[in-house]
Amino acid sequence: MPLSDFVDALKDNPYFGAGFGLVGVGSAIALARKSAQFGMIFFRRNYMITLEVPSRDKSYHWLLSWITKHAKHTQHLSVETSYMQHESGRVHTQFDFHPSPGNHIIWYGRKWIRVERTREKQMVDLHTGTPWESVTFTAMGRNRDVFFNILQEARELALKQEEGRTVMYTALGSEWRPFGFPRRRRPLSSVVLEQGLADRIVDDVKEFIGNPKWYTDRGIPYRRGYLLYGPPGCGKSSFITALAGELGYSICLMSLSDRSLSDDRLNHLLSVAPQQSIILLEDVDAAFVSRELLPIESPLAYQGMGRLTFSGLLNALDGVASSEARIVFMTTNFIDRLDPALIRPGRVDLKQYVGHCTHWQLTQMFRRFYPAEPATEGDRFAESALAAHPNISAAQVQGHFMLFKMDPTGSIDNVAKMKE
Ligand SMILES: Nc1ncnc2c1ncn2[C@@H]1O[C@H](COP(=O)(O)OP(=O)(O)OP(=O)(O)O)[C@@H](O)[C@H]1O
Ligand SMILES: [Mg+2]
Repeated sequence: MPLSDFVDALKDNPYFGAGFGLVGVGSAIALARKSAQFGMIFFRRNYMITLEVPSRDKSYHWLLSWITKHAKHTQHLSVETSYMQHESGRVHTQFDFHPSPGNHIIWYGRKWIRVERTREKQMVDLHTGTPWESVTFTAMGRNRDVFFNILQEARELALKQEEGRTVMYTALGSEWRPFGFPRRRRPLSSVVLEQGLADRIVDDVKEFIGNPKWYTDRGIPYRRGYLLYGPPGCGKSSFITALAGELGYSICLMSLSDRSLSDDRLNHLLSVAPQQSIILLEDVDAAFVSRELLPIESPLAYQGMGRLTFSGLLNALDGVASSEARIVFMTTNFIDRLDPALIRPGRVDLKQYVGHCTHWQLTQMFRRFYPAEPATEGDRFAESALAAHPNISAAQVQGHFMLFKMDPTGSIDNVAKMKE
């Protein structure tokens, strides 16, 4: 507040209006108190700087981690538990500590900084259904650089955690939230697909990412859809994770059988997906089958709540258009259950069967697992494996090798016992 405003404010003040001569002692105290208040406001406005970061902002979570790192001595923590249930029913949980709502004091850059994390009791973010939150940083002085440095450090800290890692996002309300800590990137070579298959997909995706101009010049939406189909345990999901690592992309994992998913929400989510990410729709065949059972299961719970319709899904897929490369991967075990409209070109541009292990795959897997063994042993393993089980998945082979970690010959001799 400029000084002139301050003086004006004092003039408007009733105590001043009344004049000093007429006021009693009580009023004088009140005046002193008021002046002190004005003084404080004046001081705050001119000699303190504050930065407020609402929870909707991307940097909010980075800053929370930054505060956790710097407010080492704070004894007041709150926990954020991430919970994810896979299609298989497996549940994954993780605990992250954050500074709890309230005040924290941090010594940073030769300054005391007060950090206040507030959580509104009355206000709820309608998009996510979570309480509205913000953090406010207050520091002495007028130099904003301190906040700029904090933001930059928080970002670097977050990026460092993500370096060489793949971030998984899941949908929370209408936003994408990182799920758990970023995972270590899975090398592409660790997923052994049929000869040349992985390269074909990787080249296709890289070509797509590298040529935005081709699309804009022709007025074609800049997106590409992929469908991997085939029996379970043959590496569809693993390959997509490894591909994301190879590209330095994150993964937005979305389950179409999520009952709270409506047409609008899906549409919104697809359009706000983080940049440089692969949208992964697993088991697309399951989405609409399971939905038909829904009204019987819980007639009341979802009444009045929009649900995802098949045409809603198609519209959402078609609507995904941005200047960023948009990559959608879908997986299914049953391609014949999919509606042809879903996998027509434009929605799915590349379909790829990922099948049971071939001779070549088996030799490669053997070599990767037992690098010291001569190549002929790999051939011997592949031959006896295929003779015993013509249809085996890579997951079964991997499980078998784990039983014979140190015993390559044992793994060949016992190949007939491999679990189907
Ligand atoms: N081609 C492969 N090379 C190496 N490991 C593999 C391969 N395929 C599967 N695995 C291993 O088997 C496990 C299951 O694989 P994954 O989840 O990728 O299968 P999927 O094809 O997605 O199966 P589903 O159809 O059931 O989703 C993973 O732990 C993975 O490491
Ligand atoms: Mg899978």
